[in-house]
Amino acid sequence: MIDQVKHYIEEVKNFEAKSLEELEQFRIKFLSKKQGLITKFFAEFKNVPKEEKPEYGKVLNELKALVEHKIKTLRQHLEDQQAQKVDMDLTLPGENMAVGTRHPLSIVRRELLDIFRRMGFAVAHGPEIEDDWHNFTALNFPHDHPARDMQDTFFIERDPDVVLRTHTSNTQIRYMETHRPPLKVVLPGRVYRNEAVSYRSHYVFHQIEGLYVDRNVSFADLKQTLLIFAREFFGEHTNIRFRPSYFPFTEPSAEMDVTCTLCGGKGCPVCKYTGWLEILGCGMVDPNVLRNMDIDPEEYTGYAFGFGIERIAMLKYGINDLRIFLENDKRMLDQFQYLGDEE
Ligand code: PHE
Repeated sequence: MIDQVKHYIEEVKNFEAKSLEELEQFRIKFLSKKQGLITKFFAEFKNVPKEEKPEYGKVLNELKALVEHKIKTLRQHLEDQQAQKVDMDLTLPGENMAVGTRHPLSIVRRELLDIFRRMGFAVAHGPEIEDDWHNFTALNFPHDHPARDMQDTFFIERDPDVVLRTHTSNTQIRYMETHRPPLKVVLPGRVYRNEAVSYRSHYVFHQIEGLYVDRNVSFADLKQTLLIFAREFFGEHTNIRFRPSYFPFTEPSAEMDVTCTLCGGKGCPVCKYTGWLEILGCGMVDPNVLRNMDIDPEEYTGYAFGFGIERIAMLKYGINDLRIFLENDKRMLDQFQYLGDEE
């Protein structure tokens, strides 16, 4: 009997399992409650001669401990092996992680702001939810001005004094409330107008406003600043021209065109064969606006300008439908560079 047990001890010591199934067979063979060898050997205990009982008990316990230890270590080993067994070539290069890209409007906004920063403009922001004073009245809009009409402005039924700003000019007023001249600032932001959505207009878009107020600011300063801006952004051969216009908050007012970015001025479908593209509105800050802000128009003068970012981005990238800026179609967005995190 003792020899038999010792024989099994040797067998267990030498046992190796190639699979968890094989190990399970081994466990059943020894440890199964009903037919396992250990159970059987313990059942034999009563038949072992009295003087051999101590030794028999000892080897039998040794066998049991050995079997348990073997199962534990082999199982651990096999499970580790299984976890490591991956069905692929680990030397292959990894899959690239998708990296977000900057939205084309953000790219263009940053380029535009950078140009003005280099010319000494600060950057500031104003609220999109605005009151009548900042969006209209302080900007010298007469009370019956059509721009206040329901068709252009998003009002709130409950309170007609609350509007979604229709232009970034509201931020001129906000800025002059907290800053005294000399002031030189560009004011980017999102604006809203109650317009039908089409390839060329939307009810939400973006503008950048410029404002410069100091002693002796003249229309010549405005022209030179905008010429530098146009050449920096659209290229050194770009020319500009001014056409008289009207805005309640500037006097005189003008609209500025640049030579067509596509044909260089020769005439093409983009510029409707005129050679010019309308880019922005501008003018000298109306004395009434300065007075509203407690700035003496006898002492200070200023200029302001404002333009849409979408239009400029469309020209830059040859995009002919403004709606795609808001659709977040990944196929479109992926065509733009990742430019890092800084604004
Ligand atoms: N606020 C005007 C618009 O939205 C643009 C503008 C800004 C014109 C500043 C003149 C001066 O059309």
